[in-house]
Amino acid sequence: MKKVSIRFIEESDLPLVQEYVSKKQVADTTNVPFPYPANGALQWFEFVEKEKEQGNHHPFAILYYEKFAGSISVRIEKNEIGAIDYWVAPPFWNKGVGTRAAQEAINYAVKELGLKTFETCCLKENPGSGRVLEKNGFRFVKEFEIGSGDKHEGKKANLYRLEM
Ligand SMILES: CC(C)(COP(=O)(O)OP(=O)(O)OC[C@H]1O[C@@H](n2cnc3c(N)ncnc32)[C@H](O)[C@@H]1OP(=O)(O)O)[C@@H](O)C(=O)NCCC(=O)NCCS
Repeated sequence: MKKVSIRFIEESDLPLVQEYVSKKQVADTTNVPFPYPANGALQWFEFVEKEKEQGNHHPFAILYYEKFAGSISVRIEKNEIGAIDYWVAPPFWNKGVGTRAAQEAINYAVKELGLKTFETCCLKENPGSGRVLEKNGFRFVKEFEIGSGDKHEGKKANLYRLEM
């Protein structure tokens, strides 16, 4: 059995998505609202399934020894640049789950989608996410201030890039 694997998200994952994404530790460093709405996971699922049909969003469950442990998405942005968004459920932090899941998602994006360049941002105050990216070959590009209208408006974020 593989320690960390990914597969497409399924409707049966939604109770755990709802439970984990509602946690402040996950909301603090993502764009997820806090408090999380009661039907948030279902709304998210319906949105990403539509985007998946259009081919520009590939949403996965992260499994740790087959147990649901988080989610990671590959999005295709303009100019065929890939982006990865991810969260790992707090009980599974610091076990290499984020790092391995990102590796799996990048492999999928390269092999199945033909992507060669990836750009992803994370808050400066989220060094764990920066390490996940660096351990997968991403290089720091620049620091920038998050613009108005965003949940994290005024905070500093780091942009990372990976060229295959
Ligand atoms: C960020 C996150 C994905 C990391 O996932 P994880 O499975 O714990 O990461 P890993 O176990 O693969 O650890 C990756 C590296 O980051 C380091 N790390 C993890 N959390 C850290 C923290 N809070 N501060 C500093 N380093 C940290 C680990 O030590 C490891 O580095 P090392 O191998 O050099 O020791 C997880 O904490 C999370 O989901 N947070 C909430 C949501 C979020 O921030 N998502 C990303 C938005 S950009």
